[in-house]
Amino acid sequence: MIIAIDGPTASGKSRLGKNLSDKLKIDFVDSGKLYRIIAYLYRNSNSNLNKFLKSKNWDEEFKRDDFSNDDLYSPEVSDISSKISTNKEVRKIVTDYLRKLAKKNNLIVAGRDIGTVVFKNADLKIFLTAEENEREKRRLKQLLEKGYSDDKIDRELFIRDKRDSRRKIAPLKPAKDAIIIDNTNLKKEETLNIVLNEMKKRGII
Ligand code: DC
Repeated sequence: MIIAIDGPTASGKSRLGKNLSDKLKIDFVDSGKLYRIIAYLYRNSNSNLNKFLKSKNWDEEFKRDDFSNDDLYSPEVSDISSKISTNKEVRKIVTDYLRKLAKKNNLIVAGRDIGTVVFKNADLKIFLTAEENEREKRRLKQLLEKGYSDDKIDRELFIRDKRDSRRKIAPLKPAKDAIIIDNTNLKKEETLNIVLNEMKKRGII
């Protein structure tokens, strides 16, 4: 079984993915983290992107658990991850890896193009969104908790969203068959219950 969760930055995809994963005992993969791993290693590489991509064994890099939040979630790495994710080779590396994982496991996968490109036949597609004010508030809270000072926090959120939505390759948009959930005024448990009820209705669980 594959459950695809797409949506803009700070819309609650990871939270929902983790909650579903706990409830259903299915592995959760945040594909944004994979783009961030590529971005972080590329930033430290001093190399040309295509050469750099070929120099790594990505199956190994994606399995590493020694990256800190600071490494992967700094505003700088956020920006680089959004920029390099417009590259075809970068997208292929992540897409191939996710499809390989899905051959062996049931998966819940969060990202931008999971229901539209990576798993077009997913058993359930969710497009999660929330109003801009709310998403900005959530992201600020996350970054402050991670220790970034207020003035270091740029408005990367909406710049990235625009770039992620307007790119030619695998842009962020709801799949035609996705259920769209605006969780601006929903508690985490309420969002989870909407999804679980939908799965019951469809006989998936
Ligand atoms: O979900 P996130 O904010 O951690 O993702 C970081 C960047 O990675 C995001 O700005 C765009 C890119 N991304 C993507 O292009 N496709 C995905 N499926 C997931 C993330």
